[in-house]
Amino acid sequence: MMKIRRRAVDPAVMISCCYFLLVVIIIGGADFCNGGVTSRFVRRLQESPDMPLDSDVFRVPPGYNAPQQVHITQGDHEGKAMIVSWVTMEEPGSSTVTFWTQTGKKKSANGRATSYHYYTYRSGYIHHCTLRRLEHSTKYYYEVGTGGNTTRQFWFKTPPEVGPDVPFTFGLIADLGQTHDSNDTLTHYENNPMGGQTVLFAGDLSYADRYPNHDNVRWDTWGRFVERSTAYQPWIWVTGNHEIDYAPEIGETEPFKPFTHRYHVPHKASNSTSPHWYSVKIASAYVIVLSSYSAYGKYTPQTQWLQKELSNVDRSETPWLIVLMHSPWYNSYDHHYMEGETMRVMYEPLLVQYRVDLVFAGHVHAYERSERVSNIAYRIVSGGCRPVEDDNAPVYITIGDGGNSEGLVTDMTEPQPEYSAYREASFGHATLSIKNRTHAFYNWHRNQDGYNVVADSVWFHNRIWLLND
Ligand SMILES: *[C@@H]1O[C@H](CO)[C@@H](O)[C@H](O)[C@H]1NC(C)=O
Ligand SMILES: *[C@@H]1O[C@H](CO)[C@@H](O)[C@H](O)[C@H]1NC(C)=O
Ligand SMILES: *[C@@H]1O[C@H](CO)[C@@H](O)[C@H](O)[C@H]1NC(C)=O
Ligand SMILES: *[C@@H]1O[C@H](CO)[C@@H](O)[C@H](O)[C@H]1NC(C)=O
Ligand SMILES: [Fe+2]
Repeated sequence: MMKIRRRAVDPAVMISCCYFLLVVIIIGGADFCNGGVTSRFVRRLQESPDMPLDSDVFRVPPGYNAPQQVHITQGDHEGKAMIVSWVTMEEPGSSTVTFWTQTGKKKSANGRATSYHYYTYRSGYIHHCTLRRLEHSTKYYYEVGTGGNTTRQFWFKTPPEVGPDVPFTFGLIADLGQTHDSNDTLTHYENNPMGGQTVLFAGDLSYADRYPNHDNVRWDTWGRFVERSTAYQPWIWVTGNHEIDYAPEIGETEPFKPFTHRYHVPHKASNSTSPHWYSVKIASAYVIVLSSYSAYGKYTPQTQWLQKELSNVDRSETPWLIVLMHSPWYNSYDHHYMEGETMRVMYEPLLVQYRVDLVFAGHVHAYERSERVSNIAYRIVSGGCRPVEDDNAPVYITIGDGGNSEGLVTDMTEPQPEYSAYREASFGHATLSIKNRTHAFYNWHRNQDGYNVVADSVWFHNRIWLLND
């Protein structure tokens, strides 16, 4: 990886920097102050609207009370349980899931149904059922809608047993929404030859809150749209700002109401008291989910949990430590600039202390990858605030380019800061393919290329097992 040149903030140094820049321009035209690559890829810029309600992707499955919006997520800390969720519209029906392997007997698990009101909207019956005591690396078939009405059958493969050299491929998507671009992103992920096994979704799901009174029908359409992936592989959920749905003007004052009813996560398995922050172990990775929209000050539940959590991670069992959040800490686009700063101030020293490998965020509707930098030296009494190269620091990746109706953000701070290794305002997704305890191969794909084309790729070296890049 390229070395970071330290940036000057002192005015006297700035002047000499600019003077030097002038000299450089005169003698050769090289851009001294610039960091990494700002891609010049020429892309289509107009926003795409949400797909209309009668689109094929939103079709209601046929049959009386047919389960819809089927989605699964890991149901425990180790990957031996799966939470299966779906919605029935006409009547509650059954919350039982029947499941079996190719060779085994049929088993069943009982779940529960919930529902909620949002202004004038009334949700369907939202079922959540946890399948436990599953075998690792095993294909399970499962059926929902048992007990008399329309049944539907799906399958998933459980993750391998946790261990330091277990290979695994993650998909990385965020800020997806439900436009034609969203559909392209999902299609590209599905066709990506890297073969993602689980999606780490860094927040902002449906964007239903952009409709008048947060029309929750758009939560239902989103659930039906992504079912073709979420019913077959776990998606690990992060809470974004479009999940808050706080609208006191229409009497909706319970933050995260639609999201928490619809999307269950295994937070209790990591001793978290809130579904907005939790962790799961998957193969050789330890994945920590944080909430940009919950309190993160000192003494708060999230902070207490994170401190304990980081000290519990055993890197000889799960070498790869990955943190997910919605609002990025290192973002050189103008949009949402410095929104992640307060959380960075609170948590960055911890992430560096525990040598987190990678941090994925969304929120900014574009793509950016950082160098390994930290900015933790600052003390209010002594100054010294700038990102510096730091081998113990994570790489920060903004993957908020899922393709929602707010469109791309293209305005960037200039010059590109030195901590920014690559940035491009295009829609897309990424994959992270962990090979063993030392090596992981990372790829970012833009939607406007073929499924096979890689726009940005890096080999990541583990922060514990191979510190020297
Ligand atoms: C739907 O299933 C429920 C039981 O889950 C049953 O009581 C009801 O009669 C069924 N309705 C129809 C129309 O099949
Ligand atoms: C969404 O993508 C799928 C898969 O490529 C395609 O079959 C479907 O027609 C698309 N739908 C819309 C509304 O673009
Ligand atoms: C949760 O707490 C219990 C009891 O203190 C402990 O046994 C368990 O290991 C903890 N689990 C995690 C994932 O930290
Ligand atoms: C880990 O994976 C990398 C990349 O595939 C490979 O070069 C390296 O030899 C592997 N290490 C071990 C110990 O197998
Ligand atoms: Fe966002």
